[in-house]
Amino acid sequence: MKPVQLTARVISNRRIAGPYFKLCLREASIARRALPGQFVMLQVKREDAPFLRRPFSIHSAQGPDLEILYETKGAGTRILSKQKPRDAVELIGPLGNGFSLRLGSRRPIIVAGGIGVAPLVFLAQKLSNRKGLALIGGRTAAGVLCEKEFQKTGFSVTIATDDGSRGFHGRVTGLLERELRTANPDRQIIYACGPEPMIRRICGISLKDKVPAQVSLEAHMACGIGACLGCAMNTKHGYKRVCKEGPVFDIEELL
Ligand code: FES
Repeated sequence: MKPVQLTARVISNRRIAGPYFKLCLREASIARRALPGQFVMLQVKREDAPFLRRPFSIHSAQGPDLEILYETKGAGTRILSKQKPRDAVELIGPLGNGFSLRLGSRRPIIVAGGIGVAPLVFLAQKLSNRKGLALIGGRTAAGVLCEKEFQKTGFSVTIATDDGSRGFHGRVTGLLERELRTANPDRQIIYACGPEPMIRRICGISLKDKVPAQVSLEAHMACGIGACLGCAMNTKHGYKRVCKEGPVFDIEELL
């Protein structure tokens, strides 16, 4: 189905921790069609707002509402954090290809690093009957996001922090390796989103342990609809646009 461009109303926009905010928007025609891993291009309509639209993962979609989890780290997201209920934002979506939900009898293992939890909570909501495992990593305990949201979906949650302030002391990929040591690789599937070094490490683990994996990639996006080629990256099957053929890729496709 084709993405649509329209104006959505802000329902709420609140800080959940440190620089992280959750924005709830009412836009039924996007919310009802959205799949986990897809994203929207969002633009704030204000004179002082940067012109370009920005991509944001869909964090959750229920009924006519969709949620976006974002980190304030530049002028655009700071302006977004000031949006109030009933304000209007411009949206295009849902965009891109999301996660495949055809996992057969495999157990889903979600691996999320930092703000990488954003699309994975929506995935866990769709897989809530699968008794999956969510491994959440953060630099510190304060950077561990969405623990309760994963628990609500029935996933069991394990935490890793780089500084050891909570849970496993180390990277979330270390936690994944520990988990796979005692698991049957034929019965697992990895879904991941996070910073590039984490994704690289997951590629290595997936190939070594022969566990299939799907990863959501980040890229600088100008158009978000496959037109500018600004997000193209080389894969085993030639150049692919992260915004159009991705942002979710099978790990086997990646170089
Ligand atoms: Fe323009 Fe992907 S952002 S083609």
